[in-house]
Amino acid sequence: MRLLIIFSLINISVGICPSGFIQGVDPRECYKIVTKASTWFAARADCESQGNQGVLVSIPNALRNSFVQDQLQAVFYKFNETWLGADTILNGGTWGWLDSTPFNYTNWDQGQPSSNTSMCATMGSSGKWYSRDCIHQSLPYVCKVNASISTASGICSPGYTYYANPSGVIKSCYKLILQNLISFDQAEALCQHDDAHLASVQGDDENKFLQSFAFGINAWLGFYRNNSVWAWTDGTSVNFTSWRCDVNPPGQDNHNCANILNTHAQVCCGFECEGGSCDLYGYWINNNCNNQGSESVAAAICQPTSNDTMSLTIGANGKWYSRSYDMSLPYMCEVTLPNPQNTTVNHCSQGYTYFSGDTTNSCYKLIFQPLITFNQSEALCQQDGAHLASIHDEEENTFLQSFAYNVKAWIGLYRNNSVWLWTDNTPFTYNNWRSEQNPPHADNANCANIYNSYEYLCGPNGCACYGSWIHNYCDNDVTTSDYISAAICKKAPNVF
Ligand SMILES: *[C@@H]1O[C@H](CO)[C@@H](O)[C@H](O)[C@H]1NC(C)=O
Ligand SMILES: *[C@@H]1O[C@H](CO)[C@@H](O)[C@H](O)[C@H]1NC(C)=O
Ligand SMILES: *[C@@H]1O[C@H](CO)[C@@H](O)[C@H](O)[C@H]1NC(C)=O
Ligand SMILES: *[C@@H]1O[C@H](CO)[C@@H](O)[C@H](O)[C@H]1NC(C)=O
Ligand SMILES: *[C@@H]1O[C@H](CO)[C@@H](O)[C@H](O)[C@H]1NC(C)=O
Ligand SMILES: *[C@@H]1O[C@H](CO)[C@@H](O)[C@H](O)[C@H]1NC(C)=O
Ligand SMILES: *[C@@H]1O[C@H](CO)[C@@H](O)[C@H](O)[C@H]1NC(C)=O
Ligand SMILES: *[C@@H]1O[C@H](CO)[C@@H](O)[C@H](O)[C@H]1NC(C)=O
Ligand SMILES: *[C@@H]1O[C@H](CO)[C@@H](O)[C@H](O)[C@H]1NC(C)=O
Ligand SMILES: *[C@@H]1O[C@H](CO)[C@@H](O)[C@H](O)[C@H]1NC(C)=O
Repeated sequence: MRLLIIFSLINISVGICPSGFIQGVDPRECYKIVTKASTWFAARADCESQGNQGVLVSIPNALRNSFVQDQLQAVFYKFNETWLGADTILNGGTWGWLDSTPFNYTNWDQGQPSSNTSMCATMGSSGKWYSRDCIHQSLPYVCKVNASISTASGICSPGYTYYANPSGVIKSCYKLILQNLISFDQAEALCQHDDAHLASVQGDDENKFLQSFAFGINAWLGFYRNNSVWAWTDGTSVNFTSWRCDVNPPGQDNHNCANILNTHAQVCCGFECEGGSCDLYGYWINNNCNNQGSESVAAAICQPTSNDTMSLTIGANGKWYSRSYDMSLPYMCEVTLPNPQNTTVNHCSQGYTYFSGDTTNSCYKLIFQPLITFNQSEALCQQDGAHLASIHDEEENTFLQSFAYNVKAWIGLYRNNSVWLWTDNTPFTYNNWRSEQNPPHADNANCANIYNSYEYLCGPNGCACYGSWIHNYCDNDVTTSDYISAAICKKAPNVF
C-alpha cells in the first residue's frame, strides 16, 4: 500500500552562548568566570560591557547558587571569595540584585551580612555569602549574559542527536558510540557503517556542543595526520582546532589521531589552578591511533556525511530512509510501507536522543550537574516537558546503561510510604535493583539512580555494576549517599 505522509517541522528555541561563556542550567543564560581580581564597581562595569544584558551574577535560588559555586571551583584554589551582583549602595540601604531579581533567596553565612551599610555581596568556596567592602577589596567575579536565541529543528536517525549552531551554518546529527580502547580506524569504520564519518568540528560552538555531548568521555574526532598535514575524514576543510596548550601545535611524533579530551587533566592552560588540576573539557590532544597512548579513548563521535542531511526515520520492517530536506520548508515524503501501524516519524527535540524497543518509543536527554538532587532533576526535566526517565524493560535499561555510560544518574523512581512510583506516573512493573538492594532497605534513601560504574559491593571481588539501580538519598548529600552527577530525562517524540 502507498502512504503519503506530510509533516512540517517544529521550531525549537536554543540558547547559544558567546565564546568563553558557559551555558547555565537554564539554557537561556550564559556565565563567564573572570579570574582577574577587581573592585566590585569595576567588575560590574566589565560585565555590563559584555553586551547581551551582561550583569554581575544574581542568585535567585539554591539551584543557581550551587551551579555558580560549581563553576568557581578552579577560582577557589586561589581566591576564597568572588563578587556577586548584590549590594546595598544602589538600593537605598537594603540588599538588592543588579538585574532586579527579587532578593528573596539568601545564603548568608552565620553572622552575615555583618554590616548593611555600603556593602557588596560575595560568595565563598562553601557557597555561603558574605558582605564586603565594595571599593577597597579586589576579587574575581562571575558575569551573566543572556544567550542568543536561535530556533532550530531537525530530524535524526535513531541514536543520533540534533544540533544547529547559532549562525545556522551547522545543522547536523551526532552519535556517541561507546567502546573502550576502540582504535581510530575501527571508530571511522563504525561511523561509515551509518553513512557517517567521525565528527569534524568547524568552530567553537560546535566544539562546545560536543564537549557536553561526550561529557566525561574521551572520544575520537575525525581528525588525523597524514604526512604532517592534519585533515578531517569527512573531507571538510580545517578551519578550527582546539588543541590543548601542551600539544599546540602537536609534536612530530607518531600520535597521528585526535580525540576530544573530556576528562580531568593535570595540564592547565592559562587557568589559575594552584594545587589542583583543571577540568579542561573540550580540548583536543593528538593520540596513538591504535589507542595505546597514555590517555585512553572510550568512544567515537559520528556525524552523517552531508552537512544538511537529517535522516528521516520511516520505521517499516526496521528499514530507515535517509532524506535531505530544506530546513525552512515543510517536507513531503512518499514511501511504500507494508503496514501503516508501523509508520511513524519520530522527532526528538534538540538535545534529545531517540530510542525505540519493544515497549519503548521515547526521547532521552542526559543532564550533567554535579550533586544535583532528585527534585532538581525532575524540575529540570519538566522544564523540557519531560520527566525523569521511567524504565519498563531490560532493553530500555540496557539502552540507558550505555546512554549514561560511566555516570550515576537519577531515574524517575521514588518511594512514597514504602511504595515505589515513577514520576511520569507509568506503572512500576520492572526493576533492576542491584542484588544486595533487592528489595531496597526500609530507610530514608527514597530515590533511585542507575549505577553506571565499577563498584565493590556487588560481588566478593567487586564487579562492574553497569545498569543496576540503587536506592539513594534524594538530596544527593555526598556525606551519606553516592555522588550523583546527572539526570536522565525522557519524553515522547513528536509523531507526525
Ligand atoms: C522569589 O520571588 C519570586 C517572585 O516574586 C517567586 O517566583 C520565587 O518563587 C521566589 N523565590 C523564593 C525562593 O521564594
Ligand atoms: C541587615 O539587613 C538584614 C535584612 O535585610 C537583617 O536581617 C540584618 O539583621 C541586618 N544586619 C545588620 C548588621 O544590621
Ligand atoms: C577570605 O580570606 C580573608 C583574608 O584572609 C578573610 O578575612 C575572609 O574571612 C576569608 N573568607 C572566607 C569566606 O573564608
Ligand atoms: C534577558 O533575559 C531576561 C531573563 O533572564 C529577560 O527578562 C530579558 O528579556 C532578556 N533580554 C533580552 C534582550 O533577551
Ligand atoms: C596522504 O598524503 C599523500 C600525499 O602527501 C596523499 O597522496 C594521500 O592520498 C594521503 N592519504 C590520505 C588518507 O589522505
Ligand atoms: C573554511 O575554510 C575554507 C578555506 O580554507 C573556506 O572556503 C570555507 O568557507 C571555510 N568554512 C567555514 C565554515 O568557515
Ligand atoms: C554543505 O552544503 C553546501 C550548500 O548547500 C554544499 O555546497 C556543500 O557541498 C555541502 N557540504 C557537504 C560536505 O555536503
Ligand atoms: C511491525 O514491524 C515489526 C518489525 O519491525 C514486526 O515484527 C511487526 O509484525 C510489525 N507489525 C505489524 C502489525 O505488522
Ligand atoms: C521533593 O518534591 C516532593 C513533591 O513536590 C516533596 O514532597 C518533597 O518534600 C521534596 N523533597 C525534597 C527533599 O525537597
Ligand atoms: C503517597 O502516599 C500517600 C498515602 O499512602 C497517598 O495519600 C499519596 O497520594 C501518595 N502520593 C503520591 C504522589 O502517590
